[in-house]
Amino acid sequence: MYNYAVYTPIERPDLWEALDDAEHPLNVVWPEFLDHDVAYARYCGVLSRLGPLARFQFAFVHVGPQGQEVIAGHGRSIPFFWPELETVGTTGWRPEVLDSLPAQGYSAILTTGVQQSQGDGPAPNALSALSVTVQPDYRRTGLAELIIDTMKRAALLEGFSILVAPLRPTQKSRFPDVPMEQYLHWTTESGLPLDPWLRKHVRLGGQVAKIATRSMVVSGTREEWKSWVGIDMHLEMQRAPDRGKMKSFPVPIPGGLVPVEYQPENEVGVYVEPNIWIYYRLQ
Ligand SMILES: CC(C)(COP(=O)(O)OP(=O)(O)OC[C@H]1O[C@@H](n2cnc3c(N)ncnc32)[C@H](O)[C@@H]1OP(=O)(O)O)[C@@H](O)C(=O)NCCC(=O)NCCS
Repeated sequence: MYNYAVYTPIERPDLWEALDDAEHPLNVVWPEFLDHDVAYARYCGVLSRLGPLARFQFAFVHVGPQGQEVIAGHGRSIPFFWPELETVGTTGWRPEVLDSLPAQGYSAILTTGVQQSQGDGPAPNALSALSVTVQPDYRRTGLAELIIDTMKRAALLEGFSILVAPLRPTQKSRFPDVPMEQYLHWTTESGLPLDPWLRKHVRLGGQVAKIATRSMVVSGTREEWKSWVGIDMHLEMQRAPDRGKMKSFPVPIPGGLVPVEYQPENEVGVYVEPNIWIYYRLQ
Protein backbone atom coordinates (compact mmCIF):
# COMPACT_ATOMS: atom_id res chain seq x y z
CA MET A 1 0.00 0.00 0.00
CA TYR A 2 2.84 2.39 0.84
CA ASN A 3 6.50 2.54 -0.08
CA TYR A 4 8.93 2.80 2.79
CA ALA A 5 12.58 3.74 2.98
CA VAL A 6 14.46 1.96 5.76
CA TYR A 7 17.23 3.67 7.74
CA THR A 8 19.46 2.57 10.59
CA PRO A 9 20.79 5.17 13.07
CA ILE A 10 24.11 5.07 11.21
CA GLU A 11 22.46 6.39 8.05
CA ARG A 12 19.97 8.77 9.66
CA PRO A 13 20.82 9.61 13.30
CA ASP A 14 18.27 12.46 13.18
CA LEU A 15 15.38 9.97 12.94
CA TRP A 16 16.54 8.15 16.03
CA GLU A 17 17.04 11.40 17.93
CA ALA A 18 13.39 12.20 17.14
CA LEU A 19 12.46 8.83 18.64
CA ASP A 20 14.09 9.82 21.95
CA ASP A 21 11.05 12.05 22.54
CA ALA A 22 8.65 10.22 24.90
CA GLU A 23 5.74 11.90 23.12
CA HIS A 24 6.69 10.61 19.68
CA PRO A 25 3.67 8.76 18.15
CA LEU A 26 5.70 5.56 18.05
CA ASN A 27 6.39 5.83 21.79
CA VAL A 28 2.92 6.71 23.04
CA VAL A 29 1.48 3.44 21.69
CA TRP A 30 3.42 1.58 24.40
CA PRO A 31 2.18 1.53 28.01
CA GLU A 32 4.22 4.08 29.98
CA PHE A 33 4.89 1.71 32.88
CA LEU A 34 7.04 -0.55 30.67
CA ASP A 35 9.62 2.25 30.47
CA HIS A 36 10.42 1.43 34.09
CA ASP A 37 11.68 -2.09 33.53
CA VAL A 38 15.27 -1.76 34.74
CA ALA A 39 16.92 -3.28 31.65
CA TYR A 40 14.75 -1.25 29.28
CA ALA A 41 15.48 1.99 31.15
CA ARG A 42 19.21 1.29 31.20
CA TYR A 43 19.83 -0.11 27.77
CA CYS A 44 17.11 0.58 25.21
CA GLY A 45 18.35 4.11 24.54
CA VAL A 46 21.89 2.95 23.80
CA LEU A 47 20.88 0.56 21.00
CA SER A 48 20.98 3.34 18.42
CA ARG A 49 24.26 4.79 19.78
CA LEU A 50 26.51 1.75 20.08
CA GLY A 51 28.35 1.01 16.84
CA PRO A 52 27.93 -2.79 16.78
CA LEU A 53 24.21 -2.55 17.61
CA ALA A 54 23.06 0.48 15.61
CA ARG A 55 22.87 -1.42 12.35
CA PHE A 56 20.22 -3.71 13.83
CA GLN A 57 17.78 -0.84 14.48
CA PHE A 58 15.45 -0.05 11.58
CA ALA A 59 13.24 3.00 11.05
CA PHE A 60 10.69 2.88 8.21
CA VAL A 61 9.95 6.23 6.63
CA HIS A 62 6.98 7.10 4.48
CA VAL A 63 7.24 10.24 2.38
CA GLY A 64 3.90 12.02 2.12
CA PRO A 65 2.56 13.94 -0.93
CA GLN A 66 4.15 17.21 0.24
CA GLY A 67 7.48 15.51 0.74
CA GLN A 68 7.11 15.31 4.52
CA GLU A 69 8.74 12.33 6.19
CA VAL A 70 6.82 10.20 8.68
CA ILE A 71 8.50 7.46 10.70
CA ALA A 72 5.68 4.98 10.18
CA GLY A 73 7.24 2.17 12.18
CA HIS A 74 10.41 0.78 13.60
CA GLY A 75 12.03 -2.45 14.62
CA ARG A 76 14.65 -2.95 17.29
CA SER A 77 16.79 -6.07 17.42
CA ILE A 78 20.03 -7.23 19.00
CA PRO A 79 22.65 -9.84 18.11
CA PHE A 80 23.83 -12.13 20.91
CA PHE A 81 25.92 -15.21 21.53
CA TRP A 82 23.80 -18.23 22.43
CA PRO A 83 26.20 -20.97 23.59
CA GLU A 84 23.65 -23.82 23.38
CA LEU A 85 23.06 -23.00 19.71
CA GLU A 86 26.63 -24.07 18.99
CA THR A 87 25.72 -27.65 19.98
CA VAL A 88 22.92 -27.93 17.37
CA GLY A 89 25.39 -28.74 14.60
CA THR A 90 26.50 -31.93 16.36
CA THR A 91 23.56 -33.06 18.49
CA GLY A 92 20.62 -31.53 16.56
CA TRP A 93 17.69 -29.51 17.87
CA ARG A 94 17.30 -31.05 21.31
CA PRO A 95 14.55 -29.49 23.50
CA GLU A 96 17.27 -28.30 25.89
CA VAL A 97 18.48 -25.81 23.29
CA LEU A 98 15.20 -23.91 23.12
CA ASP A 99 14.73 -24.32 26.84
CA SER A 100 18.00 -22.49 27.44
CA LEU A 101 16.42 -19.22 26.25
CA PRO A 102 16.21 -17.11 29.41
CA ALA A 103 13.03 -16.94 31.51
CA GLN A 104 13.85 -13.22 31.84
CA GLY A 105 13.11 -12.83 28.10
CA TYR A 106 13.27 -9.22 26.95
CA SER A 107 15.29 -7.91 29.91
CA ALA A 108 17.83 -10.73 29.72
CA ILE A 109 18.42 -10.61 25.99
CA LEU A 110 18.70 -6.82 25.94
CA THR A 111 21.17 -6.84 28.84
CA THR A 112 23.18 -9.76 27.45
CA GLY A 113 23.32 -8.31 23.94
CA VAL A 114 24.50 -4.88 25.08
CA GLN A 115 27.09 -6.31 27.48
CA GLN A 116 28.40 -8.81 24.94
CA SER A 117 28.73 -6.06 22.33
CA GLN A 118 31.09 -4.22 24.69
CA GLY A 119 33.22 -7.21 25.62
CA ASP A 120 35.65 -9.38 23.73
CA GLY A 121 33.84 -12.69 24.15
CA PRO A 122 32.65 -14.96 21.35
CA ALA A 123 31.04 -13.37 18.31
CA PRO A 124 27.22 -13.35 18.22
CA ASN A 125 25.51 -16.30 16.55
CA ALA A 126 21.83 -15.26 16.70
CA LEU A 127 19.60 -12.22 16.42
CA SER A 128 16.76 -11.41 18.80
CA ALA A 129 13.93 -9.09 17.85
CA LEU A 130 13.21 -6.70 20.72
CA SER A 131 10.21 -4.76 19.46
CA VAL A 132 8.14 -4.04 16.38
CA THR A 133 6.07 -0.86 16.43
CA VAL A 134 3.78 0.54 13.74
CA GLN A 135 1.96 3.87 14.00
CA PRO A 136 -1.82 3.36 14.13
CA ASP A 137 -2.32 5.12 10.75
CA TYR A 138 0.04 2.66 9.09
CA ARG A 139 -1.27 -0.58 10.60
CA ARG A 140 -2.53 -3.37 8.38
CA THR A 141 -0.43 -2.09 5.49
CA GLY A 142 2.10 -4.93 5.51
CA LEU A 143 4.66 -2.83 7.40
CA ALA A 144 4.78 -5.12 10.46
CA GLU A 145 5.61 -8.00 8.15
CA LEU A 146 8.23 -5.92 6.35
CA ILE A 147 9.90 -5.13 9.69
CA ILE A 148 10.07 -8.82 10.64
CA ASP A 149 11.42 -9.63 7.18
CA THR A 150 14.07 -6.93 7.49
CA MET A 151 15.27 -8.50 10.74
CA LYS A 152 15.40 -11.94 9.14
CA ARG A 153 17.48 -10.58 6.28
CA ALA A 154 19.81 -8.75 8.67
CA ALA A 155 20.32 -12.00 10.59
CA LEU A 156 21.05 -13.94 7.40
CA LEU A 157 23.53 -11.30 6.24
CA GLU A 158 25.46 -11.85 9.48
CA GLY A 159 25.48 -15.59 8.80
CA PHE A 160 23.04 -16.33 11.66
CA SER A 161 20.67 -19.26 11.22
CA ILE A 162 18.15 -18.13 13.80
CA LEU A 163 15.99 -15.18 14.77
CA VAL A 164 14.27 -15.29 18.16
CA ALA A 165 11.83 -12.88 19.81
CA PRO A 166 10.41 -12.46 23.32
CA LEU A 167 6.97 -11.79 21.89
CA ARG A 168 4.41 -9.58 23.65
CA PRO A 169 1.00 -10.90 22.51
CA THR A 170 -1.04 -7.83 21.64
CA GLN A 171 -4.44 -8.99 22.89
CA LYS A 172 -3.34 -10.67 26.12
CA SER A 173 -4.10 -7.44 28.03
CA ARG A 174 -7.79 -8.17 27.50
CA PHE A 175 -7.41 -11.33 29.59
CA PRO A 176 -5.04 -10.42 32.42
CA ASP A 177 -6.25 -13.23 34.67
CA VAL A 178 -5.71 -16.01 32.13
CA PRO A 179 -2.34 -17.75 32.57
CA MET A 180 -0.07 -17.23 29.54
CA GLU A 181 0.33 -21.01 29.24
CA GLN A 182 -3.41 -21.24 28.63
CA TYR A 183 -3.72 -18.09 26.45
CA LEU A 184 -0.96 -19.36 24.20
CA HIS A 185 -3.10 -22.34 23.25
CA TRP A 186 -6.28 -20.45 22.42
CA THR A 187 -6.81 -20.93 18.70
CA THR A 188 -9.03 -19.82 15.87
CA GLU A 189 -11.28 -22.31 14.09
CA SER A 190 -8.47 -22.96 11.64
CA GLY A 191 -6.13 -23.92 14.45
CA LEU A 192 -3.93 -20.81 14.38
CA PRO A 193 -3.21 -18.82 17.56
CA LEU A 194 -6.09 -16.56 18.56
CA ASP A 195 -3.75 -13.74 19.47
CA PRO A 196 -3.30 -11.71 16.24
CA TRP A 197 0.36 -10.85 16.78
CA LEU A 198 1.36 -14.39 17.69
CA ARG A 199 -0.73 -15.60 14.73
CA LYS A 200 1.14 -13.23 12.40
CA HIS A 201 4.47 -14.70 13.49
CA VAL A 202 3.24 -18.29 13.20
CA ARG A 203 1.96 -17.55 9.68
CA LEU A 204 5.41 -16.21 8.81
CA GLY A 205 7.11 -19.39 10.03
CA GLY A 206 7.75 -18.56 13.69
CA GLN A 207 7.46 -21.34 16.25
CA VAL A 208 6.85 -21.19 19.99
CA ALA A 209 9.89 -22.12 22.08
CA LYS A 210 8.73 -21.49 25.65
CA ILE A 211 7.24 -18.88 27.94
CA ALA A 212 9.55 -16.19 29.23
CA THR A 213 7.93 -15.99 32.65
CA ARG A 214 9.68 -12.80 33.86
CA SER A 215 10.35 -10.95 30.62
CA MET A 216 9.81 -7.43 31.99
CA VAL A 217 9.60 -6.51 35.66
CA VAL A 218 8.38 -3.14 36.91
CA SER A 219 8.35 -2.26 40.58
CA GLY A 220 6.83 1.02 41.76
CA THR A 221 5.37 2.76 44.77
CA ARG A 222 1.66 3.44 45.14
CA GLU A 223 2.28 7.01 43.90
CA GLU A 224 4.35 5.89 40.92
CA TRP A 225 1.70 3.43 39.77
CA LYS A 226 -0.92 6.14 40.18
CA SER A 227 1.04 8.39 37.84
CA TRP A 228 1.77 5.61 35.31
CA VAL A 229 -1.68 4.00 35.05
CA GLY A 230 -4.04 6.37 36.90
CA ILE A 231 -4.99 3.79 39.53
CA ASP A 232 -4.61 4.19 43.29
CA MET A 233 -3.85 0.56 44.13
CA HIS A 234 -4.33 1.05 47.85
CA LEU A 235 -7.86 2.33 47.32
CA GLU A 236 -8.60 -0.51 44.89
CA MET A 237 -7.56 -2.97 47.55
CA GLN A 238 -9.62 -1.28 50.29
CA ARG A 239 -12.69 -1.41 48.04
CA ALA A 240 -12.36 -5.14 47.41
CA PRO A 241 -14.79 -7.05 49.61
CA ASP A 242 -12.82 -10.31 49.58
CA ARG A 243 -9.36 -9.00 50.26
CA GLY A 244 -9.08 -10.76 53.63
CA LYS A 245 -5.54 -10.71 54.93
CA MET A 246 -3.87 -11.01 51.54
CA LYS A 247 -0.16 -10.24 51.55
CA SER A 248 -0.49 -9.02 47.96
CA PHE A 249 -3.52 -7.95 46.00
CA PRO A 250 -3.83 -8.33 42.19
CA VAL A 251 -4.74 -5.10 40.38
CA PRO A 252 -5.41 -5.28 36.59
CA ILE A 253 -3.99 -2.27 34.74
CA PRO A 254 -4.58 -0.85 31.24
CA GLY A 255 -2.11 -2.46 28.83
CA GLY A 256 -0.93 -4.99 31.42
CA LEU A 257 -0.69 -8.62 30.31
CA VAL A 258 -1.09 -9.69 33.95
CA PRO A 259 -2.23 -7.77 37.05
CA VAL A 260 0.16 -5.81 39.25
CA GLU A 261 0.67 -7.52 42.61
CA TYR A 262 0.17 -4.74 45.13
CA GLN A 263 1.70 -5.22 48.58
CA PRO A 264 -0.25 -3.06 51.07
CA GLU A 265 2.31 -3.48 53.83
CA ASN A 266 4.98 -1.46 52.03
CA GLU A 267 2.69 0.19 49.45
CA VAL A 268 4.64 -1.23 46.51
CA GLY A 269 3.24 -2.79 43.34
CA VAL A 270 5.21 -5.33 41.29
CA TYR A 271 4.39 -6.18 37.69
CA VAL A 272 5.99 -9.32 36.24
CA GLU A 273 5.22 -9.63 32.54
CA PRO A 274 5.38 -13.01 30.81
CA ASN A 275 6.20 -13.05 27.09
CA ILE A 276 6.45 -15.90 24.60
CA TRP A 277 9.81 -16.89 23.18
CA ILE A 278 9.42 -17.63 19.50
CA TYR A 279 12.07 -18.65 17.02
CA TYR A 280 12.52 -18.68 13.28
CA ARG A 281 14.96 -21.06 11.67
CA LEU A 282 16.43 -19.18 8.72
CA GLN A 283 17.88 -20.39 5.36
C1 LIG B 1 1.79 -5.28 16.79
C2 LIG B 1 1.78 -4.30 15.62
C3 LIG B 1 3.20 -4.01 15.19
C4 LIG B 1 1.03 -4.99 14.48
O1 LIG B 1 0.95 -4.08 13.40
P1 LIG B 1 -0.13 -4.30 12.25
O2 LIG B 1 0.20 -3.38 11.16
O3 LIG B 1 -1.49 -4.28 12.84
O4 LIG B 1 0.20 -5.79 11.83
P2 LIG B 1 -0.55 -6.67 10.79
O5 LIG B 1 -1.37 -5.85 9.86
O6 LIG B 1 0.48 -7.56 10.21
O7 LIG B 1 -1.56 -7.48 11.70
C5 LIG B 1 -1.17 -8.56 12.46
C6 LIG B 1 -2.38 -9.39 12.77
O8 LIG B 1 -3.16 -8.69 13.71
C7 LIG B 1 -4.50 -8.53 13.23
N1 LIG B 1 -4.94 -7.29 13.85
C8 LIG B 1 -4.40 -6.06 13.68
N2 LIG B 1 -5.05 -5.18 14.47
C9 LIG B 1 -5.99 -5.89 15.16
C10 LIG B 1 -6.96 -5.55 16.13
N3 LIG B 1 -7.09 -4.31 16.58
N4 LIG B 1 -7.75 -6.52 16.63
C11 LIG B 1 -7.63 -7.79 16.20
N5 LIG B 1 -6.72 -8.17 15.28
C12 LIG B 1 -5.91 -7.23 14.77
C13 LIG B 1 -4.36 -8.52 11.74
O9 LIG B 1 -5.55 -8.88 11.10
C14 LIG B 1 -3.28 -9.59 11.55
O10 LIG B 1 -3.80 -10.88 11.69
P3 LIG B 1 -3.98 -11.77 10.39
O11 LIG B 1 -2.60 -11.89 9.79
O12 LIG B 1 -4.50 -13.05 10.91
O13 LIG B 1 -4.94 -11.02 9.53
C15 LIG B 1 1.04 -2.99 15.99
O14 LIG B 1 -0.25 -3.32 16.42
C16 LIG B 1 1.76 -2.17 17.05
O15 LIG B 1 2.67 -1.42 16.76
N6 LIG B 1 1.35 -2.32 18.33
C17 LIG B 1 1.97 -1.59 19.43
C18 LIG B 1 3.33 -2.14 19.76
C19 LIG B 1 3.28 -3.64 20.02
O16 LIG B 1 2.49 -4.13 20.82
N7 LIG B 1 4.16 -4.40 19.33
C20 LIG B 1 4.15 -5.86 19.42
C21 LIG B 1 4.97 -6.36 20.52
S1 LIG B 1 6.69 -6.27 20.10
